Amino acid sequence: MKYRPTTCVWEITEGCNLRCRSCGLFRSDALPDQLNSAEAFDLIDQIVELDLRGVTLSGGEPLTRKDWSNLVKCLTDRGVACNMITNGWSITNDVAKQMKKNLISTVFISIDGTKEVHDRIRKPGSYNRIEQGIKILKQESINVGAVTTLSKQNINLLPQIKDELIRMDVALWHVQLSLPVEFTHHHEYHLLDPEDIISILDFCHNTNKEGKIAISPTDCIGYYSNKELRTNPSTFNTIDHQLWDGCKAGIHSFGILYNGDIVGCTSFRNREYIEGNIRERTLRDIWEDNNHFLWRRNMSKDKLSGECGVCGYGSKCLGGCPYIRFSMDNTIYGENRYCIQNIGMKKFKEEIAKKNDTDEIFADAKNAEKNKDYQRMAMLIDRYLQLDDSNVAEVWRMKGFADFQNGNYSMSEEANIQALNINSNDINAKKCLALAIFRQGKEIEGMKLLAEVAQIGDQDAIDKLEELKYGSMYRRRKYLNY
Ligand SMILES: C[S@@+](CC[C@H](N)C(=O)[O-])C[C@H]1O[C@@H](n2cnc3c(N)ncnc32)[C@H](O)[C@@H]1O
Ligand code: SF4
Ligand code: SF4
Repeated sequence: MKYRPTTCVWEITEGCNLRCRSCGLFRSDALPDQLNSAEAFDLIDQIVELDLRGVTLSGGEPLTRKDWSNLVKCLTDRGVACNMITNGWSITNDVAKQMKKNLISTVFISIDGTKEVHDRIRKPGSYNRIEQGIKILKQESINVGAVTTLSKQNINLLPQIKDELIRMDVALWHVQLSLPVEFTHHHEYHLLDPEDIISILDFCHNTNKEGKIAISPTDCIGYYSNKELRTNPSTFNTIDHQLWDGCKAGIHSFGILYNGDIVGCTSFRNREYIEGNIRERTLRDIWEDNNHFLWRRNMSKDKLSGECGVCGYGSKCLGGCPYIRFSMDNTIYGENRYCIQNIGMKKFKEEIAKKNDTDEIFADAKNAEKNKDYQRMAMLIDRYLQLDDSNVAEVWRMKGFADFQNGNYSMSEEANIQALNINSNDINAKKCLALAIFRQGKEIEGMKLLAEVAQIGDQDAIDKLEELKYGSMYRRRKYLNY
């Protein structure tokens, strides 16, 4: 199997007992085409067969589905960990006991503010219900997490919500952005601005440093700031997994809608993102179909626009959360303006747009090169070239090198060719050109060019050529005799 699924979010019903202002996912009653119990149990067989590690039950409100407890039991009996996200309205002693008996892993309760704001967003009385619900769950020693959906209405309340959660003895807290969802028309007034990401990450960082509650910004909040790296407790201290490495939808996770529709992520629920329905095909069949989840499986950096398309993290990050990009620009190929890197890049560009002294800009670019800050180096050289359409080979060599380091290989190729047009003896430009060509998949062409530099005795080129040879030995065996 090319892509191995490990988790899924299953919206077991669209029925809900609340009408939260931010949410489009509610109907007072379950929809008639909701999977019935027999279909749901059959689906669990298929989840087990696919060897998933965990399932998060959500909705609508999962606790409004009469057989929720049996679904939890069926999953955990078969060795699949089961979490739940609930509005907490219906947590009684009996519900908690069933959760405990059926070995639920963690119950995440949504909390959207202090009492007044939470009740305003959700329903009067719901804050008291979650407080009571958390107490009951804790009495049963069930793991409790909290989820806060951040908007203009509650971002300033983060410190108070934190104190409340600590008072309620909640140890784990996820924060996510409120995003425009289908059916909601009131979202404009409460969506956060991109710059708010900075204060959210600062808050998360400081909260985790305090150590009283573990806060975790979810996949829609990032990316690649030092604070974020030190903030995410789930990845804390695990060097290999420190960096966000792209959205998992359709790669390691998927979503199941109330009626058995399969999607890469439950945020994407338009017809065009529905990959199939388990009433028509098996889960495995849908997952393993090479024509499915292509919006995610075929995503690459070069398809992204704006700063994401040239970002040094782009190949790994692929623009962060696709739903943010989609909800902002109606295309998954838009740029992610809710990203701390993106904000930083734009700010830096604005700063250097005010600079007109090419010597100063060149010196700053050299400094950035020395500090291995290739993103800034590229932006500085681009500014230089806006002011002076340079015929200095070194400027183009630097552009070629910075673009290469940022993974922008075709741009690097062009810049290195410019450098070599000005000075055909520029060895560094030639080496970088060879590597940029190689990285674009023209491996033989790249190696031949590198071999030309190696032939004149450049040790670095000799070493790099060896690296490329061994790295691509298996792929190239057909074409070259080593
Ligand atoms: C759709 S609800 C379903 C589970 C349950 N009914 C609840 O409220 O927790 C899952 C999560 O989505 C959040 N949510 C609601 N509206 C949202 C929006 N517009 N953008 C992002 N998340 C949202 C909720 O606050 C909740 O934490
Ligand atoms: S957020 Fe949850 S509780 Fe609120 S309306 Fe949506 S599904 Fe219902
Ligand atoms: S600018 Fe785009 S590609 Fe770069 S880190 Fe941010 S979201 Fe990812």
